Formats: sequence, structure tokens, C-alpha cells
Amino acid sequence: MSRQYEIGMVGLGVMGRNLLLNMADHGYAVAGYDKDLAKVGALRKEAENRDIYAADNMKDFVASLRRPRVIMMLVPAGRAVDSVIVTVLHHLEKGDLIIDAGNSHFTDTDLRAAELSRQNIQFLGVGVSGGESGARHGPSMMPGGPKEAYERVRPLFEAVAASVGGEPCVTYLGPGSAGHYVKMVHNGIEYGIIQLIAETYDLMKRGLGLSNDELLDIYESWMKTELNGYLVEITSEIFRRVDEKTGQRLIDVILDEAKQKGTGKWTSQDAMELQVPVPTIDAAVSMRDMSALKSEREAAGQMFKGPAGSFHGDKDGTIDQLREGLYFSVVLTYAQGMALLGKASTTYNYGLDLQDVARIWRGGCIIRALLLEDIRAAFGAKPDLPNLLMDPHLGQEVMTRQDAIRAVMTTAAGLGIPLPAMAASLSYFDSYRSSWLPANLVQAQRDYFGSHTYERVDERGVFHTEWREKNKEE
Ligand code: 6PG
Repeated sequence: MSRQYEIGMVGLGVMGRNLLLNMADHGYAVAGYDKDLAKVGALRKEAENRDIYAADNMKDFVASLRRPRVIMMLVPAGRAVDSVIVTVLHHLEKGDLIIDAGNSHFTDTDLRAAELSRQNIQFLGVGVSGGESGARHGPSMMPGGPKEAYERVRPLFEAVAASVGGEPCVTYLGPGSAGHYVKMVHNGIEYGIIQLIAETYDLMKRGLGLSNDELLDIYESWMKTELNGYLVEITSEIFRRVDEKTGQRLIDVILDEAKQKGTGKWTSQDAMELQVPVPTIDAAVSMRDMSALKSEREAAGQMFKGPAGSFHGDKDGTIDQLREGLYFSVVLTYAQGMALLGKASTTYNYGLDLQDVARIWRGGCIIRALLLEDIRAAFGAKPDLPNLLMDPHLGQEVMTRQDAIRAVMTTAAGLGIPLPAMAASLSYFDSYRSSWLPANLVQAQRDYFGSHTYERVDERGVFHTEWREKNKEE
């Protein structure tokens, strides 16, 4: 093989194949390999007259790459990543670069980076968001690892990434697993927003009795508001789709059991680890789990009847409140995600610039939305903003919608419709703005049963009370 290709892609599934085609369209000579030869054949067909080499074995694939080599892999997170690394390593030399562009857990990325660096192989962990069409036409890319390794692929990444206002939706985020961490939190926010939109659907469908056509119109109209964003956009399109098999709207024949690959759960898990509250994301993960308990829910539904009454209020007014409540909750979801990124950045030494994160999320990715312009501006004005709520503009936007979300919660509670992610967002707001919380009682109880001590409001130090004895004396 005399021709030398600039970059190699291992894993020709939906994401790998589309990203590779995207690179080729931008004038890059790319080689692709997959252990599934059917995928190699499919790429060969699709290559047409582009500068693409579809290799059917690892040796030829690696031999086709210009040195020092750049190999990107897009394979399922977990063991598949390690197995590709082990295989490819046999053929690599000092100075070659491996890029893991899948949804790997950030701790795995750190371990792999350390091991590869011992072998003088550079390693980048890159989050790629945007699904199939993002990969093909411009994803948002979240790279982390050694800066000099990123510089090697920067022109390529900037060419293939989405762009907004002439700025590419990619930038160097930080060392080690910074990229995969940011992608994980992106997905946590994605879980939150998806759940919040689902809750608006539930209240409008079961509570207000709206039809699919009405829902379609409402989500479409929300796109013209501050809620403009990819997930709202696809929601309106979903309500339009008719099932070819039954002629019904497709949404009504989809089973209400949500699956998950784990990234939302990882966000909640690490937020717990870092002691950063992300209750909206937690609620979204829990609701995926709740949805999966289909047969239990069916049995419980027979046993427990909810409120008997139906909705008799002002429908249009309630829909407006719901729109405002959704915006309120979406801002709070981003606020929680950004706060987690801030804490992770100091804990793991990522040195994240949250303005950059907001900037590269404005296009290409699943959580892209108009709101990200405001989030970018907020961190631009104050890079160390402790919480998005403290940004004067966004804080005001949230404040003006609190009446709406409180009304929504009351309506939903009256009708027996669960809105856990919205409730979590409102409670987050109410507790964050609360200079006093009942944690003094928590401390008293801990000290009562376990001598865990407490601090006082009027004196420094750590105190313990012999609660039982004192009670006896009384
Ligand atoms: C993206 C998505 C993607 C993720 C899917 C499915 O940014 O393109 O986040 O990476 O795999 O959204 O995730 P779940 O199966 O966990 O819902």
C-alpha cells in the first residue's frame, strides 16, 4: 500500500462511518476498519470517488496511515475500547495518537491515558455529540488530553465540527478526561431536558386531554420562543409521524419503557461523589428506571386510583404556564450541570472554561438551544460564576417564571400527574435561594442518635449534647 492516509477510523457503525464520511467531504484522506466485514463492504460502496480506504484487516489499515499515525475509534464504551486499543497497539510506534471518540466513562479514559503514555502513545478522549446526522454534517466535539496531541488534529476537528456564527463547535477543553467528563455532563443535561419535555407532554395529554395534532402545534410554536432548541424541535416532529403499520400516530404505539446506556446515571453518580446537587438530572434517571417497571406500574394502577376530577380550568393559560415552567426548569438543569462541571474542574484539575463549554454546545449537539447564547454570555461576563442563577439576566428570567411553574405544580398535583423533574427544578431553586434550611434539625438528629456533633450559630467549634440524659432530667 503506497497511498498514505491522514487519519484512520476504527469502528464503522453509525457514528464512525458518518464521521469518517464527514472528514472525507472536508478533503481528508481517511482509512476505515471494522472487524465486521459487512461494515467494511458498506463503506467501500459508499466511498464512491472520495479519498477513502476501507480496510478488511488491522495490519493493512495501520500500514495505510501516514506517520506519526492518528487513529480514531468509535466503538461502544467499555470493553470494546480496551480490546481495540490492545489490538491496535501491536502495530503502533512511539508518537502515534489514539483518539477515543465514544462515550467512555471518564475514569476509564484516565486509566487508558496513563497506560498509553507509559507506552509513548498519545491519547485523546473526545466526546462527540449529535447522533447520526451530527456525525455526518457537523457534530459538537469535546476533546480532552494533552494539548499538543489536540493541536495535531485541531484543523481536522474544526473542519468537521458544526459551526455557529463562524465559530466551530469544538475547542480544547483540558487535560486527561476533561472531554469525556464534559460529554458525560452534556448527556446528564440531555436526560434532564428529555424528561422535562416528557412531563409537559404528560400534563397536556392526560391532564388537559390534548390531541397529537394539538401537541404538534404547541411544540412547534414553542420553537419560536425562548425554548428554541433541538430537543423541542424533534418533539414536534415526533407528534407528526404516522405509523406505517397501523396508520395511527407512531407516538401512540411506542412502548412507554425508556432504555439508557448509562451516561445520565454516571452524571448523577459523580455529582453525588463530588457533592454537587443535580436533582433534575437525578429525577430524569430515576424516571427511566420507573418507566422500566411497566408490569409493576400496571399492577399498582389497578390498586391505587388517583384524583377523580378532570381539568376544568383555562387550557391556554395552563399551556402558557407550562411553557414558562419548562423554560424555568431547563435553565435550572443547565445550572446544575454547569455547577457540576465547575466542581469537577477544580477537583480533577481540568481547568475548564465554562464559557467555552457553552459555546461549543450551541451547535451540533443534542442539547443545542438558543439558551446557550445566554449561558455563554453569563460565563463570559463572570468566568467563576458559582451558579447560573446568579447571572443577573438568567436569574431574572427564572424569577419572572416562578409563579408559572408553581401554578403548573399545583395543577399537576391536583390531577395526579407526576412532574418529578420539574418539581426537582423548583425545589432546587427554592432551596438555593433559601438562606436558611432545616439542616439544623438534621444535625440535631444525627447528634441525638449517633453523637455526630453539630456547629452553633453563635459560637465557633464543634458541639455535642447528651440528648437522652437531658430529656430524662426534664
Ligand atoms: C449524543 C447523545 C448520545 C447518546 C444517546 C443515547 O450526544 O449524541 O448523547 O451520545 O448515546 O443520547 O443515550 P441513552 O441511551 O443513555 O439515552
